[in-house]
Amino acid sequence: MPTPPWARSAAGANTYDHAAARVLPTVYERTTAASQAAGAINLGQGFPDAEGPHWMRQTAAAAITSEVGPTNQYPPGIGLPAFREAVAEHQQMHYGLTLDPQQQVLFTTGATEGIAASILAFADPGSEVVTFEPWYDSYGAMVALAGAALHTVPLTAPNFRPDVAALRAQVSDRTSMILLNSPHNPTGTVFTAEEITEIVEIAREAGAVVMSDEVYEHLVFDESVHTPVLSVPGAEEVAVAVSSVGKSFSMTGWKVGWVTGSAELVNRVRGVKQFLSYTSAPAYQWATAEGLRDDRGFFAANQVQLENSRELVMAGLEAAGLRAYRPAAGYFVLADVSAVTAKSAADYAAELIQHAGVGAIPVSTLTLPSTQRDAASELNHLLRFAFCKDEQVLERAMSRLGQWIR
Ligand SMILES: Cc1ncc(COP(=O)(O)O)c(C=O)c1O
Repeated sequence: MPTPPWARSAAGANTYDHAAARVLPTVYERTTAASQAAGAINLGQGFPDAEGPHWMRQTAAAAITSEVGPTNQYPPGIGLPAFREAVAEHQQMHYGLTLDPQQQVLFTTGATEGIAASILAFADPGSEVVTFEPWYDSYGAMVALAGAALHTVPLTAPNFRPDVAALRAQVSDRTSMILLNSPHNPTGTVFTAEEITEIVEIAREAGAVVMSDEVYEHLVFDESVHTPVLSVPGAEEVAVAVSSVGKSFSMTGWKVGWVTGSAELVNRVRGVKQFLSYTSAPAYQWATAEGLRDDRGFFAANQVQLENSRELVMAGLEAAGLRAYRPAAGYFVLADVSAVTAKSAADYAAELIQHAGVGAIPVSTLTLPSTQRDAASELNHLLRFAFCKDEQVLERAMSRLGQWIR
């Protein structure tokens, strides 16, 4: 592992070029750039083609340009009062959770800052942090920056369910944190209340903090139900939850996020957060508050749309000869390429961009280097396809894949 902090952070997320000793863009940006250069359809980066609710955008615009809502000056570092009240209201309305908006809700610049601040707040240097693999790339970067070591438990096909006993075996008195992500990116697994309860129990026994990343909380399909970490017994003592506007309202550029938990743990996260961004755009907090108080049917309509898109992509990938796994949440389908190539998914992804004209993310970029070297790991044969795109775009992409692969 390289030693300067910048290189540790980059290497932790597989974005350090060892030969050149330089930082690479994230895998999402690399896939987007390669897709653009090759004229490929980009199903790599997870952002929707459709814009979020027009009425929320109007509220943000009005807040910036008129006397309605907050001014354009610094809002409080912990977030606008109206925003924190709306987060608390949302947690009550959807999950029956009672939070004090003054002390138990912290605004963050996207979930990404909430993740960073939580990890930097609780991952002691020299300690171990445990998560399920594949993981969201910023976890790897922040754990490495904190000077901790990331240990993983694989989620394996076909169901990608968490092996809680394997997690227990990884956790020891050296463990400072468990990073939980449900609904999970990129597998789409929705952890059950029982699984989350056990994970919280493991953390309590080990004296570790749980950071629960719940950004896909409103993109849950079929009969699956999202369980917020703070709804399980004992979680308040050990867990903080992170979420954001980006996925729930199709506004990934707004970067409005929030951390919730006990007053004590949220205060500790603040100790880091207020020296990262301090705060950001009050207009977006204001408009997000409006959406959180009443989504006006957006969540349900978006879910139906995404379910249709999921089926379109599932059918297209299977018709092309790939083994696709139907996700219960989120906006990604994982597909195993080993039926059509002996190459790794990383090599195959590069070919798909160049020759089939479709960009996808190799799941191995969201794993530890040791997993990438493990020839037996099925994670090296998986590609992640985003389906939060216009139907015509998805149809074209699937048709290109079908023609090239078959
Ligand atoms: C699991 C997970 N957590 C966090 C984020 C980042 O959220 P935000 O854009 O609010 O920073 C993403 C975005 O893709 C994600 O997939």
